[in-house]
Amino acid sequence: MLVLENVRSGYGQVEVLKGVSLEIKKGEYAAIIGANGHGKTTILRTASGLLRPSSGRVKFDGEDITGMPPYKVAEKGLIHIPEGARLFPQMTVQENLVAGAFAKSSWRNKAKNLARVYQLFPNIAERKNQLALTLSGGERQTVAIARGLMAENVKLLMIDEPSAGLAPILIDEVYEKIGEIRKTGVGVLVVEQSPKRIADCDCIYLIENGEVRMQGSAKEVLESKEVMQAYLGS
Ligand SMILES: Nc1ncnc2c1ncn2[C@@H]1O[C@H](COP(=O)(O)OP(=O)(O)OP(=O)(O)O)[C@@H](O)[C@H]1O
Ligand SMILES: [Mg+2]
Repeated sequence: MLVLENVRSGYGQVEVLKGVSLEIKKGEYAAIIGANGHGKTTILRTASGLLRPSSGRVKFDGEDITGMPPYKVAEKGLIHIPEGARLFPQMTVQENLVAGAFAKSSWRNKAKNLARVYQLFPNIAERKNQLALTLSGGERQTVAIARGLMAENVKLLMIDEPSAGLAPILIDEVYEKIGEIRKTGVGVLVVEQSPKRIADCDCIYLIENGEVRMQGSAKEVLESKEVMQAYLGS
């Protein structure tokens, strides 16, 4: 579904990703882990078209999407939810959700997609007229995820640190929602620091200095010495 082949990418002259290869299959639950500043967010930005790789290929659903603009990548069903929710604070929950239906095809079907999202997240539906700035942290993160699902035909949702800055009980809530999304057949890729949250992943990639240091099943990766060291080192 999502394939990165030997991707090099960064900011200006600074190369952050030094040849990253990874593959996330259709409907999989995958995670990227690693210490701060090692390139996890840069991987998501490069996959979603916000950054253009200096070399290597990005493929999605069998198509080469290297260098494709972000709005087109989103139209293909590859959705990037940046860290920290980034809602429009002075807009209502519903206005924030509708802002996620910017693509032509999604805009046409926004009423249908809004109904689908409200069905998946009833607690958000109850708050549709509430200003985003008055939401709790967990609710904000849920709305950010729901906004990503307002796109038509979502195939893979990439969520950057869904638990950042949240109290444990709110993190439970957010991961419960992620579980519900997975049940609908949508693939999920999370950047996550907490081993507990990714114990049931199909595959985990450990990123170190812009390279894949280790990859494997949740059990293989989470029980390895390298990962223990990476966590202790962060
Ligand atoms: N816009 C930018 N311009 C220049 N350098 C940047 C920019 N964004 C990130 N970097 C640098 O790229 C490197 C990788 O950053 P990235 O955000 O991918 O790390 P990360 O693994 O997501 O870290 P964290 O766990 O803190 O979110 C860091 O050294 C960072 O300072
Ligand atoms: Mg990051």
